[in-house]
Amino acid sequence: MENKRPIVEMRNISKTFGSTRALKGVDFTVMHGEVHALLGRNGAGKSTLVSTMSGLVASDTGTIRIADTEVVANGQPYAAKIRDDIAHVQQTPQLFNLLTVAENLFLENPSVQKRFGLVSHNRMRTQARALLEKWNMDIRAEALAGELGAGTRQLLEIMKALSRGVPVIILDEPTAALSNAEKHLLFEQVKALKALGISFIYISHHLDEVFEVADTVTILRDGLVVKEREAVGNLNVELIADLMMGEKTARSVRSDHTRYDAPALLRAIGVGIYPVAELGVDFQVQPGEIVALAGPVGGGKEALAMMLAGQLTPYKGKITGADGSLPTIGLVPTDRHASGYVGMLGVRENVAIGGLDLLSGRLGFINREKEASHVGHLATQTNVIASSLEQAVSQLSGGNQQKVVFARALCHNPQVVVALSPTRGVDVGAKEQLYALLRDLASKGLGVVVVSDEEDEIAQLANRVVIVFEGKLVAELRGDYTMKDLILRMEGVI
Ligand SMILES: Nc1ncnc2c1ncn2[C@@H]1O[C@H](COP(=O)(O)OP(=O)(O)OP(=O)(O)O)[C@@H](O)[C@H]1O
Ligand SMILES: [Mg+2]
Repeated sequence: MENKRPIVEMRNISKTFGSTRALKGVDFTVMHGEVHALLGRNGAGKSTLVSTMSGLVASDTGTIRIADTEVVANGQPYAAKIRDDIAHVQQTPQLFNLLTVAENLFLENPSVQKRFGLVSHNRMRTQARALLEKWNMDIRAEALAGELGAGTRQLLEIMKALSRGVPVIILDEPTAALSNAEKHLLFEQVKALKALGISFIYISHHLDEVFEVADTVTILRDGLVVKEREAVGNLNVELIADLMMGEKTARSVRSDHTRYDAPALLRAIGVGIYPVAELGVDFQVQPGEIVALAGPVGGGKEALAMMLAGQLTPYKGKITGADGSLPTIGLVPTDRHASGYVGMLGVRENVAIGGLDLLSGRLGFINREKEASHVGHLATQTNVIASSLEQAVSQLSGGNQQKVVFARALCHNPQVVVALSPTRGVDVGAKEQLYALLRDLASKGLGVVVVSDEEDEIAQLANRVVIVFEGKLVAELRGDYTMKDLILRMEGVI
C-alpha cells in the first residue's frame, strides 16, 4: 500500500466570512488510501475547510495541492482545475429534483458523452441501472429525484461521488439520513475503494462511525487544528469529545416530570398507521412527559409522529387533545433541508414563520418590536449562534440550522413538541443543550414526542419508549429502564 504518500496537502488555509473567521491558518494532509475523519463541533470550520479543498469556496490565504494540481489562494475559485481529482458530497443535498435518478447520477459523467458533447440517454440508463443494482437499490432509473425519500436521495449523491473514479472523495455528514442497513452498505463501499488506494475525508458527528471506518483523525476547534493526523487507535470517544469542546463534557441524565394524574395532552385512538392495518394503535402523551418512538426504518414511527403532529391523516381512528380539541403542536421535521428552514431567509424570518399570528397586531401586520424580542428570546433559548438575527440560515453551520428549526417549532408556544431526529448533525455539546431544552420544556408541563434511532439519545431523554414495528406498538419501556433493556428492545424487532 502507498499509505505514506500525501494526495492532498493544504497549508495555512484561512477563510473569513464577514466578521466570522471560519478558518485560521489550517494545515491538513490526506494520504493515499486513507479514510481521514475531520471532526469538530458545529461551526468549527469542517465544511468550510473541505469546501476550500474542492474549490467550492475560495480561501483567503494558503496553498492547496491535490494529486498533481497545485493552487495558491488568490480569491479565485478553481473547482474546474481539479474536477477529475476530487468528488465532494456536500452537507446540504444537491440533487436536482426535476431530473431523473439516471440523469442525476450520470449527467456530468464523461462515460455517457457521445461525440459533439451529446449525452447518450441509453448509456445513461443502462449504467444507472447497473449502479442501482450494485447498491441493492430498489428504485427506477427513470424516477424523479424529487419523489424519493431523504435516505435514498442521500445515498444517490454518495453513489454518484463514489462512481466518478476520482482519487479523493469528501463525504460531509454522509449518514445523516441513512438507515442502519444503508450505512453498512456505504461503509463496505468505502472500505473497498480504500483498498484500491482511494482517499476519503469523512465528516461526521457519530463517533462510532469514525471508529468503524476511519484510519486517521484531525480535529478542528474554532477554525484551528487542535489534533492533527492522529491514528484512530490512539483515541477514544471521551478524548475526542474533550478535544472538540476544549473542556470536559458532562453527560446529563434524564429526569421525569410526567404528570400522570393530569388528562393526556394528546391522544391517538385506534389510529391506523398503515393503510392495511386491521387494528389501530392507541397512544397518549401526558403533560411533562418525554416519550420516544423507536424501531426500524419504515416501521411506522415517523408516520405516527407526523399523524400526532397533524401533518398526516391517519388511515383510521383519530387524534385528539384533552378537551376534544387539538393542542398547539411544535414540529421539528426530520429533513430540515427540505422542510425545516428557508435557506436564503434570515434567522428572524425563519423563526417568525412559526408564529405569524401570534406576532401580528390587530390589523394583521407583524408587530416588529414584538417579533424582534420574541425571536431574540427563542434564539437565546435554543442557543443559536449567528452573526446577527438577519444572517441567512444557509450560511449557518448544520448544527445551528437545526437550532433555528427548534426555535421555529417553539415560536407558537406549543403545548406538545414533536421532534423527529432532533439532533441529527448536531455536535456533542449542542446535543446536550437541546436535551436540556427538551427537559426544560417538559418540566414546564409540555408533552414531548421524540422520534430517534439513537440509543444514547433515547436513554438520556425519554421517560417512556415505545417501539413501533409494522405499524404496531410492539413494546414499551417505562421509568428507570436500563441501557441494556433499551438496546435489547430496539434490536429485538429488527
Ligand atoms: N457562506 C457563509 N457565509 C457566512 N458565514 C459562513 C458561511 N459558511 C460558513 N460560515 C460560518 O463559518 C463558520 C464555520 O462553519 P462550517 O459550516 O464550516 O462549520 P462546520 O464545522 O461544518 O459545522 P457543522 O458540524 O454544524 O456542519 C460558522 O460560524 C458559519 O456560520
Ligand atoms: Mg458542516
